[in-house]
Amino acid sequence: MHYFVYHSGELYCESLPIRVLVEKFGTPLYVYSAKTIRRHFRVFDSAFSEIDHLTCYSVKANSNIGILALLAQEGAGADIVSGGELYRAIKAGIPPKKIVFSGVGKTPEEIEFALKERILLFNVESGQELETLGEIAKRLKIRAPFALRANPDVDPKTHPYISTGLRKNKFGVPEEEVIPLYLKAKENPYLEPLGIDAHIGSQLTTVSPFVDALKRLRKLWEELTSLGFELRYIDIGGGLGIPYENEEPPLPDDYSKAILEVLKGLPVSLILEPGRVIVGNAGILVTKVLYTKSNREKNFIIVDAGMNDLIRPALYQAYHKIIPVVDREEEEIVADVVGPVCESGDFFARDRKIKRVRQGDLLAIMSAGAYGFVMSSNYNSRLRPAEVLVDGDQFFLIRKRETLDDLIRLEEIPEFYRTQ
Ligand code: LLP
Repeated sequence: MHYFVYHSGELYCESLPIRVLVEKFGTPLYVYSAKTIRRHFRVFDSAFSEIDHLTCYSVKANSNIGILALLAQEGAGADIVSGGELYRAIKAGIPPKKIVFSGVGKTPEEIEFALKERILLFNVESGQELETLGEIAKRLKIRAPFALRANPDVDPKTHPYISTGLRKNKFGVPEEEVIPLYLKAKENPYLEPLGIDAHIGSQLTTVSPFVDALKRLRKLWEELTSLGFELRYIDIGGGLGIPYENEEPPLPDDYSKAILEVLKGLPVSLILEPGRVIVGNAGILVTKVLYTKSNREKNFIIVDAGMNDLIRPALYQAYHKIIPVVDREEEEIVADVVGPVCESGDFFARDRKIKRVRQGDLLAIMSAGAYGFVMSSNYNSRLRPAEVLVDGDQFFLIRKRETLDDLIRLEEIPEFYRTQ
């Protein structure tokens, strides 16, 4: 569900024609719909209304501070994985008491930053990390609330690069090490065990892997409780998928029903870390057709956005719908939609049925709101696109297009090599 719709053959975001935004800000351009984000957050969050819970939006999915601020207004917490994400979340007005910190490689500096901000929970992913957290907490005399991230060895049946809950993945602590680590943590009074956590992967399209993982978490919770631990939180991570092509992921209500069933009777507060399901379909990447060309085998549509702007097709062979901004009666052709980057992997679609386009036409690459701009780079010294947030008939430029000066702002020519 989203608010990108055609009116009289022209694509709109909420009440604004995309064409108008492009006239103002150029291409490539990320356009987000505030109404869609709000709606997704509300539907997701209210699906869990029957139990005490906190929805910690996963900042990595889209970390623009304009979007974080919108979600802060909705009462969202944040799931972060770096000091940078913590900085953004705080700047955007998300209270530290609603922030959980995941990730296998938190640095001592990041841990100190988060401790001083008094975040809600550290999701700890190894014995050594737990030790480091304990040492820093002791030095600062700040108790460290933590949950261990268990690796439940459950197959989420998603793309291998985004599955995280298998033993072969780097994430979390093997189940058999979980209880010994909680017992060890008792030796340091600055370590405060407050919960247990898992996150098994992203873009899941069935509930059963979530249920399997949660059953294992429940078992661990029960064992720990019988050992005298009082764990207030169960954090089940994120991962709920969205439709990109013709997937039919569970609706938030089906997802919550399955989860609440497993949690029945446990006096816990649930933490959720959704990312993609909140913002994925709330954003598009608008791009302009630069050239078209054909050879005996193929048609190519060359657009002004590249893999540096949206890397998902290149990295995961991900499918994104591509639709015209102005829909004309045209015959359908089969073409590759490709960017200007000097890599054969720089494509948005291969052998895709698409209406014939002309030079200068605008195309919308759909479902680009999650893991889009956040994964962009300056590869090929390309300037990263602007980002616009539409809310009803208003629009806000939430990130300016980069300039050539931005590109080299942090670089320097050593005096030694100066010729002019
Ligand atoms: N919590 C943790 C600990 C995570 O690692 C992730 C995502 C999430 C929550 C949010 O997952 P979501 O609800 O968005 O599925 N770049 C990839 C996705 C990487 C996901 C990484 N972790 C992509 O473009 O598909």
